[in-house]
Amino acid sequence: MTEFRSVAGKTAIVTGSSRGIGEGIADTLAAEGVHVVLADIRPEVKETAAKLAAAHPDVQVHGQIVDVSDESAVEQLVGFAVATFGRLDIMANNAGIHVTPANVWDTDMADVDRVMAVNFKGIFHGCKHAARQMIKQKSGSIVNTGSFFGKVGHPGSAAYGATKNAVHTLTMSLSQEIAPYGVNVNALCPGLAATEMHWAFVEADAKERGITFEEMKEIELKEIPLGRYGYGSDLAGAIMWLASKSGSYVTGQSININGGLDFS
Ligand SMILES: NC(=O)c1ccc[n+]([C@@H]2O[C@H](COP(=O)([O-])OP(=O)(O)OC[C@H]3O[C@@H](n4cnc5c(N)ncnc54)[C@H](O)[C@@H]3O)[C@@H](O)[C@H]2O)c1
Repeated sequence: MTEFRSVAGKTAIVTGSSRGIGEGIADTLAAEGVHVVLADIRPEVKETAAKLAAAHPDVQVHGQIVDVSDESAVEQLVGFAVATFGRLDIMANNAGIHVTPANVWDTDMADVDRVMAVNFKGIFHGCKHAARQMIKQKSGSIVNTGSFFGKVGHPGSAAYGATKNAVHTLTMSLSQEIAPYGVNVNALCPGLAATEMHWAFVEADAKERGITFEEMKEIELKEIPLGRYGYGSDLAGAIMWLASKSGSYVTGQSININGGLDFS
């Protein structure tokens, strides 16, 4: 592959990568020749990293236990990547949580604080410390995981949606601040992805409607024009584009990666 499209030899951090979308991103990047640090609050990240290291022996894969809501932990994570690889080319700020769905008037404010701390401040920390390194390098690509829930208000998800909308706005602001240094910053917005986070919703919706989990999945799949759930590899495709020369003119965008899902 030409240098125009290739990411081989680049280095990346992927947060929230012990499982789900983050694991899929890390796996795909490693398969394309990217050296990756997986970071997650769950200790299982070490096992995921070991599995990916065995599957992709041509690249370095490391696992770090990191709570992204802790700024100093994120600063150390970036420091680890730079000490290990000498540079940081791709920062995939992907870690996120959902909290118990509830109407605004029933929402526990502790849930609002937690989802803000992880989904917004966690991504802010990643942007801040990756930016400091990428400014020094005068190159790099920051890709934040947003959500279509951050583009439209969704009942029961006011706090979660607000954190994701905040991520989209952070992405636009940082992209303008850092553009003079040759760094692009974008957000990717998954729709319905095949992960533990989403299965919890399917389970709850099925229970509410009095149908089975599989029946609920069938209903959802009919709503996705491309007829399947999303995977980390779908986001990785966009990350590879944005981090290579081919996508380097794209910045400040919140790009839907959702199989054509209608917001309404
Ligand atoms: N699944 C979907 O349908 C969907 C849709 C839109 C957006 N998203 C977003 O995609 C991202 C990945 O979600 P997923 O579906 O893979 O969920 P997931 O729950 O399967 O994975 C999320 C990962 O983030 C980690 N994490 C949680 N809190 C953390 C913290 N404080 N520090 C570090 N790691 C932490 C978890 O341990 C887990 O490994 C999230 O930002 C989520 O909001 C998911």
